[in-house]
Amino acid sequence: MCGIVGYVGKRQAAPVLVEGLSKLEYRGYDSAGVAIINDGNLNVTKCKGRLKNLENELNRNPVAGSIGIGHTRWATHGQPSNFNSHPHCNEKGTISVVHNGIIENYIELREWLTGKGHKFLSETDTEVIPHLIDYFYEGDLLDAVIKTIKKIEGSYAIGVVSSLEPDKLIAVRKDSPLIVGLGKDEYFIASDIPAVLNYTRDIYLLEDNEFVVINKEGVELLSANKEKIERDIYHVTWNADAAEKGGYEHFMLKEIHEQPKVIKDTMTSRVMPGKPITLDDIKITKEQIQNIDKIYIVACGTAYHAGIVGKYVIEKLAKIPVEVEVASEFRYREPLINKNTLMMVISQSGETADTLAALRETKALGARVLAVTNVVGSTVSREADDVLYTWAGPEIAVASTKAYETQLVAMYIIALFFAENKNILSKEQIEILKEEILNIPEKVNKVLENEKSIKNFASKVYEYKDMFFLGRGLDYAVAMEGSLKLKETSYIHSEAYAGGELKHGPIALIEDGTAVVTIATQDYLFEKMVSNIKEVKTRGAKVLALAMEGSSNVEKTADEVIYIPQVNSLFAPLLAVIPLQLLAYYTSVKKGCDVDKPRNLAKSVTVE
Ligand code: M6R
Repeated sequence: MCGIVGYVGKRQAAPVLVEGLSKLEYRGYDSAGVAIINDGNLNVTKCKGRLKNLENELNRNPVAGSIGIGHTRWATHGQPSNFNSHPHCNEKGTISVVHNGIIENYIELREWLTGKGHKFLSETDTEVIPHLIDYFYEGDLLDAVIKTIKKIEGSYAIGVVSSLEPDKLIAVRKDSPLIVGLGKDEYFIASDIPAVLNYTRDIYLLEDNEFVVINKEGVELLSANKEKIERDIYHVTWNADAAEKGGYEHFMLKEIHEQPKVIKDTMTSRVMPGKPITLDDIKITKEQIQNIDKIYIVACGTAYHAGIVGKYVIEKLAKIPVEVEVASEFRYREPLINKNTLMMVISQSGETADTLAALRETKALGARVLAVTNVVGSTVSREADDVLYTWAGPEIAVASTKAYETQLVAMYIIALFFAENKNILSKEQIEILKEEILNIPEKVNKVLENEKSIKNFASKVYEYKDMFFLGRGLDYAVAMEGSLKLKETSYIHSEAYAGGELKHGPIALIEDGTAVVTIATQDYLFEKMVSNIKEVKTRGAKVLALAMEGSSNVEKTADEVIYIPQVNSLFAPLLAVIPLQLLAYYTSVKKGCDVDKPRNLAKSVTVE
């Protein structure tokens, strides 16, 4: 997990690389560095800590040159340090490499190279790459990179520059994302599109095992046999501003507020009154849908929580049994899969290593894979049989909010699509449900109007050490997401429990002043939740309740109540999660935490 960039053009490379890295800090931010070629010399500058440290260092000791590579790191092999920061070089300092991914056989390669007299400076897996390129170099950098790639196992997006061939940048990818930006007389490589958007909107999306050779004359895409590859240019239509904060103090808050829009975007041309659900991207046939005997939903973190909501709605509307599992567990067991099993993976980034591995395992067993992802051209989207894109736009805050919301929308759309194709619900029933979901963006706006009361509650509980989230049915799924959001952004220990489980142990933790957030939006479970609120109140808990407008007797039991607008309770998660996102946000701000980049976390977990 890391971000890489590269530049070849007429500008000074250093500011372009640093600016690109600033858009990739969400991929990792424990150290950063650049390698720039000037007058045939290779200069490397790298620093532990945030990108700002590198920027300051480059201000103190400017590096000229218009060809270079850069890296922002999230440590895997070797703790964050100047030595372990990228770029890494060969001993002579003539070859420099940035890498995102993991070289799995690096120990073996390191021993082999050490036996041949090579000396290593870092603890990283990456350092074997420039040493291998050095070992194989016989006058052609591309040949040496190709030979190196044949030796290494694992995942990688790699950028290489060398003073031996000072006009060239070479890049290659396998299982880690990489794009090429095509400007006017200038070219870029990057782990993600926002890094190049200030310069160009024309992009090549690289596939696995493709090599890129860039010099001032242009870009060549080549196979490992050096055969030319033709690729259509992908023109980015979303705005560069979309990746900026847009006036909000943090990306997380901006992204919370973008939710009404992104819900609409995700439904546009798919959910229309009077028309069947239209999923153009999905090729699965009516007959295949009718034959599905089981669905596995596999994902990680927040995406997994969206999957739990998916289970409820798909089973309820489409009457297909669904199992939901975290990808890191699923990939290492032997799930019962046959040709009538549908695998659904959910991944905002489309690059999560465990999710991708689970997808591959399942495909190998012959099941069809439907991916729900936010990133066009991501590895998950390319490897799945069908893709339903969530149109959340770039999500920069590490804590997922708008992507989760659109993943929920995707779950509802898929459930309705299957229900329609299986003739489970009548046209009238489907129209009523469509109307409900089409009204959600307006209702989310109403929930956002409650921001002040949530901010106020956060200011009362931000110093608490523990917080509990309780819910039943779909509210339990929302409680899990609320709890994850709070712990990752504010570092408060929190747990989510199904209300009915309380008496089976967790109630022992409730004492005077324990903060408990209860979610009570499911009409058929409402009275049960009120009993749970009473149980924790009796033991001294401070309770914030989330309930639907009209359920006023909750006020008699909870300390504070946040109401969400009336909605069919099947769709309540789309509204109920918003106050919980805001609670996490304001608690984090009040505690002075790094809201958009919480400690120890990275946006996209591209290693196991
Ligand atoms: O990109 P993905 O949706 O596959 O990422 C999955 C998780 O890593 C992600 O949801 C993570 O849990 C977020 N930090 C949650 O806010």
